[in-house]
Amino acid sequence: MVSQLKTLCRILVRHRFLLSAGLSAAAGIILKSIVLIPVADPLFRYAALQRPSIYVAFVWGFAIFLFTTPFLMLSMCFSLVYIHFYEEETAETLGALPEYPEPQYRQDLFLILGELHHQLEATPAAHPQWLSIPEKGPYTGIAALGAIGSGKTQGVILPAMHQLFGYKRVTQRGNCPALFLKRRAISAVKWLES
Ligand SMILES: Nc1ncnc2c1ncn2[C@@H]1O[C@H](COP(=O)(O)OP(=O)(O)O)[C@@H](O)[C@H]1O
Ligand SMILES: [Mg+2]
Repeated sequence: MVSQLKTLCRILVRHRFLLSAGLSAAAGIILKSIVLIPVADPLFRYAALQRPSIYVAFVWGFAIFLFTTPFLMLSMCFSLVYIHFYEEETAETLGALPEYPEPQYRQDLFLILGELHHQLEATPAAHPQWLSIPEKGPYTGIAALGAIGSGKTQGVILPAMHQLFGYKRVTQRGNCPALFLKRRAISAVKWLES
């Protein structure tokens, strides 16, 4: 029950602007049909005749306030919910990864590239997984893009080599004895020639 309320709070706070705008528009439409300006009042009619611009400004202002007042009230309510009841989701969801499968003991050839958390939000997951691509993935090629020194070698190439060379190293059957990197080989030859 408490966790459901917390989830509800989180949803309310996350979409508070949209909710305030939508609900205040609805409230404004209802109020507009309930709260009517007494146009038949002699004072209003006198004002409309004597100062038409002020009268029009008043009528428009009245209509605008019917929408903005609920918006302010709702914003205040959502702010109070945020201050008193909102709890950051990250505080309770910071799970541990499963044990890293060592390459020499893996049954299938796959490549672990990183961790898998929430796919649409940049927040840690309660049950993160290893982000792995199956055997056919590396056959089609992997591109690691980044500026010089951004960690391509350390973060992608060396872990990939460690996993590919280490696969079934213990049993020595069906393992990966070598890796041919065409582009690298060309640049290495060019470098040796120069
Ligand atoms: N996550 C990291 N934290 C700290 N140092 C890093 C990290 N990733 C890379 N480095 C260091 O940054 C330097 C450049 O990394 P490298 O992988 O060679 O970059 P690239 O191949 O993209 O040019 C290396 O000295 C490496 O140890
Ligand atoms: Mg590099």
